[in-house]
Amino acid sequence: HSMLSVNIAGIKMKTPVMTASGTFGFGLEYSDFVDLNQVGAVVVKGTTLAPRAGNSGCRIAETPAGMLNSIGLENPGVETLIEDIMPKLAKYDVPVIVNISGNTVEEYGELAARLDNAGVAGLEVNISCPNVKQGGIAFGTCPDSAAQVVRSVKRNTGLPVIVKLSPNVGDVALMARAVEDAGADAISLINTLLGMAIDVRSWKPVLGNIVGGFSGPAVKPVAVRMVWQVAKAVKVPVIGMGGIMTAEDAVEFLLAGASAVAVGTANFVNPYAAVEVAAGIQEYLAARGLKQVSELVGKVNLG
Ligand code: DOR
Repeated sequence: HSMLSVNIAGIKMKTPVMTASGTFGFGLEYSDFVDLNQVGAVVVKGTTLAPRAGNSGCRIAETPAGMLNSIGLENPGVETLIEDIMPKLAKYDVPVIVNISGNTVEEYGELAARLDNAGVAGLEVNISCPNVKQGGIAFGTCPDSAAQVVRSVKRNTGLPVIVKLSPNVGDVALMARAVEDAGADAISLINTLLGMAIDVRSWKPVLGNIVGGFSGPAVKPVAVRMVWQVAKAVKVPVIGMGGIMTAEDAVEFLLAGASAVAVGTANFVNPYAAVEVAAGIQEYLAARGLKQVSELVGKVNLG
């Protein structure tokens, strides 16, 4: 038990720094150079029942302050994940959390059922994808629909259920309480913020899907604020993310009330980000004579 170890809803992690869904593939793509055993948990790309090709046209755009994406949940489908990918990930000593997305409440339940006994450490229920026509953000912006999804998942699995919230809401604490009441074991936030970019030469939207999810350093203050609001509102652990590039960024989330954090956009800039952020948190703790990550959680000094 090092000073970095955390237990989130029964998922034991060596460090509090996970990789955010969709930004680290299935982990395997990074495994030639990043030691997956040093990552807190690998959260794999959003998985659906059937394979999906994703959205057409331009799907990723860089802006000076962050990244826009409209991938549209491209993924090989849950059967390929279970048959081909999970056995390869089983060679590593790292919890694998599977992000699941459905078009209907029933599909979320079916995904949960299929993923039992597949070597998965936990599920992250994605009710916040801004880039799909059906499902996605529609569930994550309505407390009743979100609760229905969570109940459907909980009925079909004994695995810890993390629910990933959207920042595209007025009252994120209301959404958090709704999913906690429905049985969520943990809450992760934020998914991407709906955004848009326009090419001033062609006057066309940059993204094929017109709008997309915005992430990276620019969203960090929004994410920290939402983590703080949610951590105050619920008893279950909170996993914070949104623009974490450095250990100090991660510490902000911990102080706001997150029990663990995830690195997303930073993985595209620096594949070692999750490992480096964890090492930096350890240095931060040691420099202050602190013994455990938990000594930071929720400790923002409000005077
Ligand atoms: O920004 C996002 N993009 N969030 C998601 O939940 C899914 C992803 C995509 O595939 O479009």
